[in-house]
Amino acid sequence: MKFFIDTANLNQIKEANDLGILDGVTTNPSLMAKEGITGAENIINHYVTICNMVDGDVSAEVISTDFEGIVREGEMLAALHKNIVVKVPMIKDGIKAIKYFSSKGIKTNCTLVFSAGQAILAAKAGATYISPFLGRLDDISYDGIELINQIVHIYNIQAYETQVLAASIRNPVHIVKCAEAGADVITSPLDSILALLKHPLTDIGLEKFLADYKKGNQ
Ligand code: E4P
Repeated sequence: MKFFIDTANLNQIKEANDLGILDGVTTNPSLMAKEGITGAENIINHYVTICNMVDGDVSAEVISTDFEGIVREGEMLAALHKNIVVKVPMIKDGIKAIKYFSSKGIKTNCTLVFSAGQAILAAKAGATYISPFLGRLDDISYDGIELINQIVHIYNIQAYETQVLAASIRNPVHIVKCAEAGADVITSPLDSILALLKHPLTDIGLEKFLADYKKGNQ
């Protein structure tokens, strides 16, 4: 399972990348705004900076919602850097655009996926990735992990090549459950990735090993 980080924060991207386990980055307009990155030129420059930091796919989201606009924006974004994946919303014109991008060899990430039906359509259109938002489903009392299980099952039996990129991760358990479900990728905030490191018995065990070493080497 690939690990992407879900942020536009350069320090966090660097920290995850320095761990040596980072396979890519996802961003969205909200994450850009959170970092104070506004204006087309700054946003474009920020994408290029991220692409130059990480050796892997970097999702850059279009703002247009009509076919021509999505295609225009997507082609501009894809031309910025070889790592760019055009992130397209799960809407009718988005599906048409994904089909177009697929025929041109431009990688896509179909975002805002909340049902198996949407995942099937995106796969039929040839999306490189789909992003089911499991945390947002959990937030409204649906089972986000169950959706990941269902999509992975459908993609396997239908032999769809689209990769399941589990998004809207809220905690380390989500990451483990996505691995169990067979998700191809998770995209997660840094804190949930770092929380995978934690176990109290590891801390207690290490403390004892170091104390015993100190005793025997005084
Ligand atoms: C996916 O690519 C989205 O950027 C993201 O995972 C959404 O997460 P949120 O629900 O925490 O905003």
